[in-house]
Amino acid sequence: MKAVVYDKRESPNVLVFREVEKPIPNDNEVLVKIYAVSINAADYRSMKLGIIPKRKIFGADIAGRVEAVGKNINKFTIGDEVFGDISACGFGGFAEYVVVPESALALKPVSVPFETAAAVPMAAVTALQALRNKGNIQPGQKVLICGAGGGVGTFTVQLAKHFGAEVTAVCGEKNVKVIQSLGADYVINYNENDFTKSGKHYDLVLALNGNHSLFTYKRVLAPKGINVMVGGSLSQVIKSLLFGAFMSIGNKKMRFLAAKPNIKDLEFIIKLVEDGKVKPIIDRHYPLHETAEAVRYLSGGHTLGKVIIEVAQGTV
Ligand SMILES: NC(=O)c1ccc[n+]([C@@H]2O[C@H](COP(=O)([O-])OP(=O)(O)OC[C@H]3O[C@@H](n4cnc5c(N)ncnc54)[C@H](OP(=O)(O)O)[C@@H]3O)[C@@H](O)[C@H]2O)c1
Repeated sequence: MKAVVYDKRESPNVLVFREVEKPIPNDNEVLVKIYAVSINAADYRSMKLGIIPKRKIFGADIAGRVEAVGKNINKFTIGDEVFGDISACGFGGFAEYVVVPESALALKPVSVPFETAAAVPMAAVTALQALRNKGNIQPGQKVLICGAGGGVGTFTVQLAKHFGAEVTAVCGEKNVKVIQSLGADYVINYNENDFTKSGKHYDLVLALNGNHSLFTYKRVLAPKGINVMVGGSLSQVIKSLLFGAFMSIGNKKMRFLAAKPNIKDLEFIIKLVEDGKVKPIIDRHYPLHETAEAVRYLSGGHTLGKVIIEVAQGTV
């Protein structure tokens, strides 16, 4: 099969499109023919940190069709359309086929295209777990989303509206119109306005991207407010892990999210997608052989929504 393999001998172009052996499922695995895969920061960040999957193939968010099943598989049959986040079971999505345990997959509604389903898993589940599990979001709350234009941000805006919050989204100028169209009540263009100086306070702050300190986020919290640190630079994330608990003393909470793949969460979100209540935003599509270029584009940090690799072109 064709795959994009991490090979550090080829540095600086470490993602190499080549022929590799097609995997064979064991008794507890499903063989998926991949139709589309989306890229996440987790792909290039793991690469930078030297955390390389065993099969040396990145790509977590897959959508495709079941091609074969091991003898202990009872959740899926051949031909089922499936999708999921396979980062917890070794990645492997930048390829024509992958073998995964059935617990990593959910059935894809037939009405949702493969590329749309591939855009969902990691970004949308992160958004949901940040808002609901860590943020305890409630209807009517004022929610600030910093970094609203990215993969996680575009889902966070829509899910926060779904939960009945008043949403203020911070993004760059080129994303303002799209973020407004997703239902944000207020959109702050960070090139023109500084939300930290508006004097407004929020019940919940989602720190997805942006270069603000923990102190700044704490300052814009209303009494009893919660800040959820989701992303940003590595140093921001480390500071949040080290000092978040300490800074939570008082009535404002500073929390850190480590999102985990979760099938129930995925099924909750794909139902909203199927019903037209949440719309995955797709910035660009690339063919599989241009995955290295697609990863470079995403790692620039200024995409709008998700970047998709069409593995089986013409089928998504
Ligand atoms: N904690 C977890 O479990 C978890 C899980 C998934 C992801 N993450 C992290 O969450 C972060 C977001 O992920 P993602 O997939 O959404 O990334 P992404 O798609 O690469 O985010 C790109 C977006 O960030 C925006 N952005 C960049 N600088 C900004 C700034 N100063 N202010 C406001 N917006 C800014 C960009 O908008 P402009 O082009 O307008 O600048 C762009 O729309 C990443 O750091 C990722 O590693 C964490």
